[in-house]
Amino acid sequence: MDNFLYICQGGEQYMLQDKVISYLEHNQGKVVTGGEMSERFGVSRTAIWKAVHALQEKGHDIEALKNSGYKLSRDSDGLSKQIISSLLTTQKFGRELEVHEILASTNTYLKEITVLDTLEGYTVVADGQSHGRGRLGRTFYSPLREGIYLSILLKPDLELQNVSMITICAAVAVCRALSRVCNILANIKWVNDIFVNGKKMCGILSEASVSAELQTIESVIVGIGLNTGTVDPIVSDIATSVLEKTGAQGQRNRLIAEVLNQFENVYSGFLERGEKEKILQEYAEKLLFIKKQVQIKEGGKSYQATILGVDETGALLVDFPTGISRRVTSGEII
Ligand code: BTN
Repeated sequence: MDNFLYICQGGEQYMLQDKVISYLEHNQGKVVTGGEMSERFGVSRTAIWKAVHALQEKGHDIEALKNSGYKLSRDSDGLSKQIISSLLTTQKFGRELEVHEILASTNTYLKEITVLDTLEGYTVVADGQSHGRGRLGRTFYSPLREGIYLSILLKPDLELQNVSMITICAAVAVCRALSRVCNILANIKWVNDIFVNGKKMCGILSEASVSAELQTIESVIVGIGLNTGTVDPIVSDIATSVLEKTGAQGQRNRLIAEVLNQFENVYSGFLERGEKEKILQEYAEKLLFIKKQVQIKEGGKSYQATILGVDETGALLVDFPTGISRRVTSGEII
């Protein structure tokens, strides 16, 4: 297994790191003395220094000021399980949480550890992915510390034909989280891309496991990849990030927690409170290219059509130049 930051390491040193980072984050931008923390946590100043050093190694931007103390920069963007957990308002989503440094792919990892009794809402987050996966067999570029890469396990009681509603719920949740945490107004490119200023900021990959016998959904792993930091020049003409849009970094923990908070809210609204129509309306309001003619690629074929909206299952409704309308359930707008 790769550098598994929080669960496998265990032990007092790691618990101390969690306490230190939470305390520094609570006092973000202010100087906190080593003595203050050593007294508060009942350990030596050397132990505090070691914990700070380990946190710096993990990417937390902590300044050690000679003879005065430590300061967590306002732009510090290191991942912290402790901080994410403290910001959750959920019942299930993220309540079981793993935070890793590098994984091949959080979706693949979650698929591998998923056993029948893994709880709904189990969440895996990575600081970077070596083999991030996108839709249609593509790779998802996942540079270390420049994005949010998370996967969540769901066990919806849902008919197979409605499974794309899960991705729709996730897309709505990401848009809400971006608006709340970063004041970013995002749009959705059907079915799963979150766009800002004409460029992709986030992609969603939902992978369902289906019982072959009963044709029912056993579980769905929803993977969310959100660019937060520097955009690689190789993809800068098609991709954007939170940093590029707002000029600010340092919000990954808050964004992760808010994505989980919003996602649970939308998901339970859909499954338990009969809010499907409302969710689809919110989704449709954010949909790009409505009434525009676009190129659609579907099953190896590509054709032109005008987008009308989405139907009650989340399928795309399109109009052909001949005047004939139809639903599109797979493929993409290119
Ligand atoms: C797409 O744009 O086609 C979907 C991208 C989904 C990327 C996320 S990052 C977390 C999770 N792990 C993966 O390997 N992929 C998803």
